[in-house]
Amino acid sequence: MQKRKLRDLEVSELGLGCMGMSYGYGEAKDENTMINLIHKALNLGISFFDTAEVYGPYINETLVGKALKAFRDKVIIATKFGIQVENHKQIVTSDLRQIRLSLEGSLKRLQMDCIDLYYQHRVDTKVPVEEVAALMATLHKEGKIKAWGMSEAGIESIQKAHSVFPLSAVQSEYSLWWREPERELLPLLESLNIGFVPFSPLGKGFLAAKFNKDSTFDKKDFRSSVPRFEKENLETNMALVEFIKEIAKDKNATPAQVALAWLRKQKPFIVPIFGTTNPQRLEENINSLTLHLSEADLQAINAKLDTITIKGDRYSGENAKRIGK
Ligand SMILES: NC(=O)c1ccc[n+]([C@@H]2O[C@H](COP(=O)([O-])OP(=O)(O)OC[C@H]3O[C@@H](n4cnc5c(N)ncnc54)[C@H](OP(=O)(O)O)[C@@H]3O)[C@@H](O)[C@H]2O)c1
Repeated sequence: MQKRKLRDLEVSELGLGCMGMSYGYGEAKDENTMINLIHKALNLGISFFDTAEVYGPYINETLVGKALKAFRDKVIIATKFGIQVENHKQIVTSDLRQIRLSLEGSLKRLQMDCIDLYYQHRVDTKVPVEEVAALMATLHKEGKIKAWGMSEAGIESIQKAHSVFPLSAVQSEYSLWWREPERELLPLLESLNIGFVPFSPLGKGFLAAKFNKDSTFDKKDFRSSVPRFEKENLETNMALVEFIKEIAKDKNATPAQVALAWLRKQKPFIVPIFGTTNPQRLEENINSLTLHLSEADLQAINAKLDTITIKGDRYSGENAKRIGK
């Protein structure tokens, strides 16, 4: 697999998001089965793995740590601080003492001495991002992190943080059904030489045609709280899936492969991290690397996307208030 650069970090051009293996989309999967899946990804050329302290909470880092311990020098592992869990409730906090505690916990669970890429999961409006950036510079000097990034941060926060200690990557949602980053974020990242890591590149499975208009989601599945997946919106949004299926048929590919190829074609500093818990889908998604969309394909797809209405927000309630800060 070819590599891409996130500023100074070299990673495989597709990364594996490990969240869904233990968190977010229902019950945690069997640990050994997931370790085998991570090893399969490694064998197929993936060297970039994404986790977070809050996934599980905590058990996802432990899983990733166990799976990758023996391959430490061959991989780039990204994790995240900034969301704590108290009484089953998530609290956004970048209290500087808490970040140090989080870091020590992550290093232990991941069985590492140094984190390759350490993201602030969400901006904490109570703590200036400049202070967080200065702490990241200190942790870098201490040899505890190689690089840092921010997730779902607003443009101003990114600029302020980057001016104190350069960011290597920003991780935010970007896909065929969420193209907002094209407006301001991508031009900014390009101008500052910051890499971009789109999460949910398959729209949490929607763009891969995993669901239909009647799909419902268990309470333990994050999608049950996402307005775009509500019944009345899902039916309208299926128009996008029908369009992706048409492209897939035309290109002799699958919908998931179209969604990933479209993202990779946007910019050379983009490295999508898809999530899967299934070995066949892992292969299918990696095989998207053989699908090359031309500039004309991209323009035609984007022109059609502009005419398709997506109903429903991508976050609700408290989750919506935390983004773009
Ligand atoms: N920074 C943040 O705030 C944030 C937020 C969300 C996610 N993330 C990170 O981004 C990673 C990816 O996000 P995501 O899991 O939402 O990504 P995604 O790749 O958009 O969606 C994953 C879903 O798609 C399904 N899927 C995968 N490949 C498929 C295929 N070929 N055909 C049909 N269905 C397919 C998976 O089901 P199966 O498991 O059954 O294949 C799973 O339900 C996460 O693991 C996490 O590391 C970060």
